[in-house]
Amino acid sequence: MEKKFKRTLITTALPYANGPVHIGHLAGVYVPADIYARYLRLRGEDVVMVGGSDEHGVPITLRARKEGITPQEVVDRYHTIIKDSLEELGVSFDIYSRTTSKLHHETASEFFRHLYDKGEFTVQTALQPYDEKSGEFLADRYVVGTCPRCHNENAYGDQCEACGSSLNVTDLINPRSALTGEPVKMRETTHWYLPLDKWEPKLREWILEGHKEWKTNVYGQCKSWLDAGLQPRAVSRDLKWGVPVPVEGAEGKVLYVWFDAPIGYISNTKELLPDTWEKYWKDPESRIINFIGKDNIVFHCIVFPSML
Ligand code: 2FM
Ligand code: ZN
Repeated sequence: MEKKFKRTLITTALPYANGPVHIGHLAGVYVPADIYARYLRLRGEDVVMVGGSDEHGVPITLRARKEGITPQEVVDRYHTIIKDSLEELGVSFDIYSRTTSKLHHETASEFFRHLYDKGEFTVQTALQPYDEKSGEFLADRYVVGTCPRCHNENAYGDQCEACGSSLNVTDLINPRSALTGEPVKMRETTHWYLPLDKWEPKLREWILEGHKEWKTNVYGQCKSWLDAGLQPRAVSRDLKWGVPVPVEGAEGKVLYVWFDAPIGYISNTKELLPDTWEKYWKDPESRIINFIGKDNIVFHCIVFPSML
């Protein structure tokens, strides 16, 4: 028999605040979540629906640079546009907040620090593309160069869109920075990693045995990742925009956006229910239902559960 829960927390994927919401977001996440929340409320159930804008990450910094404004100005603009659209459409959030809030920064920072103090991260030093002119490390997507397979001169550090090959930065011929056009140098940097491999047996049991009711594509993707073997994943980045890594000697490093964003679900619940939020997250009689986009599966099913 299906287990009865006392309360339900509905989370909706946090849209990036670097553009307006579009029909895909609405059809995929917000309308289905809204229908479900309204249905549970009509049945008199205890339900809370949280959402908010995802306001960190590299694309926001690039948009700011392109428009000659600050990242904060970018997210202020799009957060308002997105929030107003969702409100005008009648999506019945109990709270719609944002990841640049003070409460979110504190929550994400404490979350990282707690895992750090428990020794849950590993540290790895690796070579990363660096732009000497702008003085910053570059995400793979922001390195362009010649594709070694088809010789397209504008292939990205992660993929060539002309021939579809998936690439590494080091595969590119004459790699240059997409920001300044300068040749890219490789430079050493240190990051904190979450050892997903450590949680693999637990995830295998929790997902493959415990959650056979998940949608077939979600269950299938999880199974194939677990079967392929999980690897440690970096949870910090060399960037100025984001939640600073709360560790001495980590100046110039922030939490990876996909580390802080799901914590947004927790900070949103906390902001809405300062005294009772914990029971939605920790009581075994509560359930959490995530409405997500299809590119978000690994983060919600593998990474966030490992963090938790
Ligand atoms: O894919 C996206 O648009 C992400 N901003 C979703 C984040 S969901 C959550 F983890 F916050
Ligand atoms: Zn190519």
